[in-house]
Amino acid sequence: EILESEPDTETPKEESVAVRTIYLSTDPYMRCRFNEDTGVPYTKSFEIGKPITSAGIGVVMESNNNFGLNQGDLLMSEFDAWPWQEEFMLDQRNLKNLHKLSKSMAAVCPVTYSLGCVGLTGVSAYFGILGEVNPTVNDVVVISGAAGAVGSVAGQLALKRGATVVGICGSDEKCAYLVNKLGFYRAVNYKSKTFQEDFVRAVGEQGASIYFDNVGGSISDLVIENMRHSSHIVLCGQISMYNTEIPYPPPLPAHSQALVEKKCINRARYLVFNYENRFPEATEYLLKQVASGDLQGTETTSVGIENAPKAFVDMMQGGNIGKQIVKVSKSPTLGVLDAIRAYTPSVVRRFIAERTIIKHPCCFCLFLMI
Ligand SMILES: NC(=O)c1ccc[n+]([C@@H]2O[C@H](COP(=O)([O-])OP(=O)(O)OC[C@H]3O[C@@H](n4cnc5c(N)ncnc54)[C@H](OP(=O)(O)O)[C@@H]3O)[C@@H](O)[C@H]2O)c1
Repeated sequence: EILESEPDTETPKEESVAVRTIYLSTDPYMRCRFNEDTGVPYTKSFEIGKPITSAGIGVVMESNNNFGLNQGDLLMSEFDAWPWQEEFMLDQRNLKNLHKLSKSMAAVCPVTYSLGCVGLTGVSAYFGILGEVNPTVNDVVVISGAAGAVGSVAGQLALKRGATVVGICGSDEKCAYLVNKLGFYRAVNYKSKTFQEDFVRAVGEQGASIYFDNVGGSISDLVIENMRHSSHIVLCGQISMYNTEIPYPPPLPAHSQALVEKKCINRARYLVFNYENRFPEATEYLLKQVASGDLQGTETTSVGIENAPKAFVDMMQGGNIGKQIVKVSKSPTLGVLDAIRAYTPSVVRRFIAERTIIKHPCCFCLFLMI
């Protein structure tokens, strides 16, 4: 339900900051927040009568340097704290879940990337690939949900390690994107009648040594049939099961479970938050890759807060390539940054990323001096 609400006049101006939402993120984990019990400790269910929340980006519209924030400052929530509201008042209580977005990051890549390939999404791919399995040239890495936000980054990171990467996704257009744009070895459409044969051919006789599983269900059963002895499954997500009552992670069917045991396949549940103390390392790496053009961020953008619910459902049904975001409003600040970045050669962006991002937030000034 979309509600019109009155402006908040009760919170004294000196105790709050007026914020306008610019972008919202839509993510599969939000589906479990519609249940009474999310089943996971790290995020709570949505409350009836309160706004939906997700990751998001916005701009401070009005502030008297309250909480150290000034007009034009960019704010973001990386995970689940940004309210789906066009404008809202931020007070001390809800401030703790939001933080300032570094303008230096915005100089290197579109700010929306902080919701996608250099944000928690990219970080999830980074630790799922480089932390859990760290592939080499000898690996055949299969990625399901490969054309989505996490999958597309995971595939690119595995490619950078020299692995042979095979993607599974839900359309021929997505297959073409994976192979032609991102350089996957092969991509297979699981909705095609010939999916099974196509997949077996794509993986080859040796079979897969690593499976980055975003979807579960019958797709994963087929992959498991085509995995090598002593291979690895990174259990990243099981989106094909999210619209069901089955608790996460759903058990494998008996046949697949038996194969996992027989082939000594390591199948470990993966959670990005287990790597929380190493997030800066991942962000720094991802930013450098984007700045040098070695990592492509792809986005599907819906416009208008009224279209945010549809964007979420579309993403759950495969309407997105890369990260599904919602553009809620324009920001003059971002317009200027976008323009500057567009005229900055990638070698300069890489220079900025290598020396200053994360560690030295004043890099935007440095950039302007260059
Ligand atoms: N473990 C962690 O810490 C962690 C962190 C972040 C995300 N995740 C998980 O990573 C996965 C991907 O998340 P994301 O944000 O990158 O989403 P996404 O891949 O950008 O979007 C979801 C995609 O899932 C695919 N899909 C939907 N229903 C499907 C089905 N029944 N069978 C096969 N594919 C289906 C659709 O693509 P097609 O067109 O290909 O069907 C859709 O585009 C999710 O499972 C999510 O829960 C895990």
